[in-house]
Amino acid sequence: MRMRIAVTGRHGQVVRSLIERGADAGIKILPLARPEVDLGCPEMIPAALSVLQADIVVNAAAFTAVDLAESQSELAFAINHRGAEAVAAAAASLKIPVVQLSTDYVFDGTLDRPYVETDPVNAMNVYGQSKLAGEQAVASTQADHVILRTAWIFSPFGKNFVRTMLSLADQRPEVSVVADQLGAPTSALDIADSILGVARQLLERPSAPELRGVFHMTGAADASWADFAEGIFAASKAMGGPVARVVRIPTSAYPTAAGRPANSRLDCSKLAATYGLCLPPWRQSLLGCVQHLLQERRASLKSSPSAFPRS
Ligand SMILES: NC(=O)c1ccc[n+]([C@@H]2O[C@H](COP(=O)([O-])OP(=O)(O)OC[C@H]3O[C@@H](n4cnc5c(N)ncnc54)[C@H](OP(=O)(O)O)[C@@H]3O)[C@@H](O)[C@H]2O)c1
Repeated sequence: MRMRIAVTGRHGQVVRSLIERGADAGIKILPLARPEVDLGCPEMIPAALSVLQADIVVNAAAFTAVDLAESQSELAFAINHRGAEAVAAAAASLKIPVVQLSTDYVFDGTLDRPYVETDPVNAMNVYGQSKLAGEQAVASTQADHVILRTAWIFSPFGKNFVRTMLSLADQRPEVSVVADQLGAPTSALDIADSILGVARQLLERPSAPELRGVFHMTGAADASWADFAEGIFAASKAMGGPVARVVRIPTSAYPTAAGRPANSRLDCSKLAATYGLCLPPWRQSLLGCVQHLLQERRASLKSSPSAFPRS
């Protein structure tokens, strides 16, 4: 099926993954991005979306700096709440579906099992509250919509935990990593593949109500941040990259501006049963990501030989 997919943002992990996977599948990915379109200025969105003549729009852009959102709540809400609402309203007026990306942080993490879509929400930080307000605003527009809650995204693109761990291992022999928050590391490239699958089915079955609504979509298998760090260093070691010893610490030993849920695990069985989509285990997808990042580092060292100390 030939699809034209408009996507908010240009340099984000999910957007860049969609551009890469879309190109592989011969699907046109049309960025709806700054400076032309700023989600903080929603009045720009309807005309910009209309010009793209897209079949569907994916709102992957967000204010994602979780700790900064505590001190910049107005901006976080402008982008994650009002911006998301404006994208959905524009989609509704063009009569195209909208896929809204959301987060595990809509939950407070107090349950002792993976969260299902119908569990009560209770975001414990400003970022989570702004994304939750965005979900609710999208659902209350007349838009044909799907909300995909994901978590702990990693990729070869932009800032993320994998890149951070590899650079820390360059600088020190051990890193302290929180071991009492559980979640599911999720590859942005796997998210992109699933979004393409969701988009295809939404367009093929415009009157299927079961395809609409909220779905959880994370990598298979759970981990703590410390487990994830150990997985990164194991992959890096196998590829001749930097390695550090992981010191497992409690959340209380790593204070941050925003609180984070202790249990971020999402039950993804609704997505599997409805769409037939299951993301791979994170350890599998991590290998390609680490390989890509190590190659990038080697290439940048080669192109700037002065970075090597001279004896
Ligand atoms: N990262 C995670 O671990 C995580 C976890 C759960 C859910 N999510 C959700 O998943 C989605 C994708 O996350 P990600 O990791 O790909 O994000 P990301 O890498 O942090 O990228 C954020 C994107 O948002 C765009 N953006 C930010 N402010 C904007 C504004 N005012 N106007 C227009 N665009 C703006 C950025 O634009 P530029 O291209 O111009 O830089 C960038 O493309 C988001 O909705 C996020 O809330 C993320």
